Formats: sequence, C-alpha cells, structure tokens
Amino acid sequence: MDNRDTLIEVRNLKKFFTIGDNTLKAVNDISFEIKRGETLGVVGESGCGKSTAGRTLLRLYDATEGDVLFEGKSIMNLNNQEMKAMRRNMQMIFQDPYASLNPRMTVGDIIGEALDIHNLASGQKRKERIQELLSLVSLNPEHMNRFPHEFSGGQRQRIGIARALAVEPKFIVCDEPISALDVSVQAQVVNLLEQLQEKMGLTYMFIAHDLSMVKYISDRVAVMYLGKMVELAESDALYEKPLHPYTQALLSAIPIPDPEIERNRERIVLQGDVPSPMNPPSGCHFRTRCPKAMPECAASVPQWKEIEPGHFAACHLYN
Ligand SMILES: Nc1ncnc2c1ncn2[C@@H]1O[C@H](COP(=O)(O)OP(=O)(O)OP(=O)(O)O)[C@@H](O)[C@H]1O
Ligand SMILES: [Mg+2]
Repeated sequence: MDNRDTLIEVRNLKKFFTIGDNTLKAVNDISFEIKRGETLGVVGESGCGKSTAGRTLLRLYDATEGDVLFEGKSIMNLNNQEMKAMRRNMQMIFQDPYASLNPRMTVGDIIGEALDIHNLASGQKRKERIQELLSLVSLNPEHMNRFPHEFSGGQRQRIGIARALAVEPKFIVCDEPISALDVSVQAQVVNLLEQLQEKMGLTYMFIAHDLSMVKYISDRVAVMYLGKMVELAESDALYEKPLHPYTQALLSAIPIPDPEIERNRERIVLQGDVPSPMNPPSGCHFRTRCPKAMPECAASVPQWKEIEPGHFAACHLYN
C-alpha cells in the first residue's frame, strides 16, 4: 500500500452550514489522503458528517476552509471550466438508487447524459458506449430504452454505477451504495464495485454506517464522530487493535459468528444519542458518551496523532 502514490489529499477540510444564527460544523477539520487504487472506508453514526465530507471533497459543496488536492493539484480554486474537466475524474454513487435517477428519462439517456456533458460520444458511438456500460455492470444492453422503475433496487444501483463510469473517472465516492438494498443483493453490488476497481484501477471512498460492511471492501478505514475524524488505520489494524473508545464501541456492536466467542465477548453500550452538531461538547466531542472519559477530555480537543505507523487517532488516552 505504501508504495502507491497519493491520488487525493485532504488538508484541514471544514464544511460549516449556517442555520439561522447558528453554525453547524458538519465537517470540522479533517485531514487524510487516499492512495491510487485504494478503498478508504468511512464509517460513523448518522449525522456525523460522512456525506458532507464526500460532497465537499468533490466540490459539490464549497468548503468553508481547507484544501483538497487531486494528483497533487488543488481543486479549490479551479474556475468553472477547469472544474468541469476535473469532474470527469471524480464521481459519486448515491445511497438511494431511485431518488438519484430521473424517473422520466430512459436508462440510455441517463447514462448518455454523462457522455453528452463531456462530449464523449455521439450518434452510433454513443449508443454503443451506453450498451457497453450496461454490459459492464451486468445489465442487459437491450434494456437501454427502459425507465428506472422497470428495474429492481440492485439493478438501479447498477445504473447509477454505469452513469458514474461513463466519464471514466479515477475516483468515486460511494455514499452508502448498498444500505438501501436487500441483504441478498448487497454482496452482488459490492462484488461488482470490487471487480470494476480491479479492471479499471479505480480509487474509492466508501461510506457506510457500520464497520462490518466496510471491513470486507476497505484497505483502510476512517471513523468519524460529530464532524471529526477520530481514528484511521489499515482495516486489519483497526479491527484487531482499535485505539479510540468510539471505534471500540462500534466494533463491540458487531456480532461474532462463533457462538462461543459471541457469548463471552464484551459489549460496550454507548450511553445516549449523538449530541447535536450545532452545540457539540467541549474538548473531545465524544467525551459525554465515552466510558474512559477523563477531566482533560472536557478541557481540550485531542490532537490527531500517528500513534503507530499508519494508525492515527485523536484521543487523550494517547497524548
Ligand atoms: N445542506 C445542509 N444544510 C444544513 N445542514 C446540513 C446539510 N447537509 C447536512 N447537514 C447537517 O450536517 C450534519 C452532517 O450530515 P451528513 O449528512 O454529512 O451526515 P452523515 O454522516 O452522512 O449521516 P447519514 O449516515 O445519516 O447519512 C448533520 O447534522 C446534518 O443535519
Ligand atoms: Mg450520509
């Protein structure tokens, strides 16, 4: 992993929303990089800022502060035309494959629209390319004149994937791409994403609610809590030796298939709900629910530190 070059570099990225007189710090100073060909999993409870991070990273939202570099070049100050060209490199796949597809457009036009925006093909070439993309995601190319409602949930997600792939991107933010699907089709879509990654050298940021889902697909995993990244490590290291109490709690919620171990394992039950991001606790945002909280956790924000090689965490236990 280490000898792969860096595709995406995120530096002190912030995205704040103004709601009335309040500021909601949806993403509050996160820094990380994603290597070419890598899958970075991003997990955390609802509202912790995963989607906002993904969107700000692609400049679908303007960042409040910070920088995003693609192949070493900042995308933050690109003008409209430069950004349009950049968008070919960076695509997004959404959670709800139905809401993200225009119900009045045929599948061929949905995919073709992506080709049109970037003038990638016209006439017969366009049709062939659409059919090629449908085949690539294991859909019947002859169904290009059908509408989204004529497909199942899993098939609709494949259409969303084909649309993203139409522009031959290098990087795709997959925002909970399987959460809305039946369990039986989730694995198929994950397998498809992995095959496509292999074939096309794609780099993924893969957002999910729970850790069990990203373990299988991710090279490294980042854990978010209330707009902050609290831990980041290679998947194996994160699962075998989670450092942050929040990660430990998330992991302890995953059932273990071995009944003997499952019976005896320790479960950490988090107290209460995630506090409002409008008014997060002082110091470490997690301290109000943390079983290991100490007085200093209220006093100061823990630094983001590399605690073991490649294993980062922000927690006063390690300061
Ligand atoms: N456009 C917006 N305007 C105002 N607030 C927003 C906007 N988008 C997100 N937020 C708020 O920012 C915070 C982070 O939201 P976000 O959708 O990024 O979380 P998430 O981790 O993706 O959650 P989920 O798992 O439910 O998808 C939430 O408090 C949310 O209400
Ligand atoms: Mg989300």
